Amino acid sequence: MSDKISVLYTEEQVNARVRELGEEISRDYAGKSIHIVAILKGATIFACELVKRITIPVTMDFMSVSSYGDATESSGVVKINKDLDEPLEGKEVLVVEDIVDTGNTLSYLLDNLQKRGSASVKLCALLNKPERRLKDVKVDYTGFVIPDAFVVGFGLDYAQKYRNLPYIGIVEPGADD
Ligand code: IMP
Ligand code: MG
Repeated sequence: MSDKISVLYTEEQVNARVRELGEEISRDYAGKSIHIVAILKGATIFACELVKRITIPVTMDFMSVSSYGDATESSGVVKINKDLDEPLEGKEVLVVEDIVDTGNTLSYLLDNLQKRGSASVKLCALLNKPERRLKDVKVDYTGFVIPDAFVVGFGLDYAQKYRNLPYIGIVEPGADD
């Protein structure tokens, strides 16, 4: 049995939206520089594509947190597996995440990062699934608002697979071809 994946947003649509987000962020932070905090592993591909479209000075750091194992349901427990390499003091921080689902991860993370003395902390998420929200999270920049479905591609995985897909697809686990 193989997983069935149906296209939700094509490669062209995702690339176009990432370009728009980069332009919007560059306008909003004009005259400043931003410090991107990308959340491993899911946000890496999005963060890399996004920074290429940002025209103001950018620095990047990475953090790894886990709230999911290989399952598709959030445990509600967030653990920091790898913290940032650099302090956030005085920086305009933009957290870049793949998806806001229940909000468990981001509500914990934003709270944690806001205590580190930065000038500001904002959130940019490629995808937002508001129907699934359990905790309130302010998403400052959203790529796409999507329905309650499990999606893969552009960095998002199902059991660590499909991060490399250049488009975003809905996965139906173990569906027959
Ligand atoms: P939350 O804490 O429930 O908001 O979920 C955060 C994490 O769950 C995301 O950073 C993803 O890694 C993962 N996740 C949630 N929904 C999906 C999905 O549809 N596809 C792949 N990963 C997902
Ligand atoms: Mg993630």
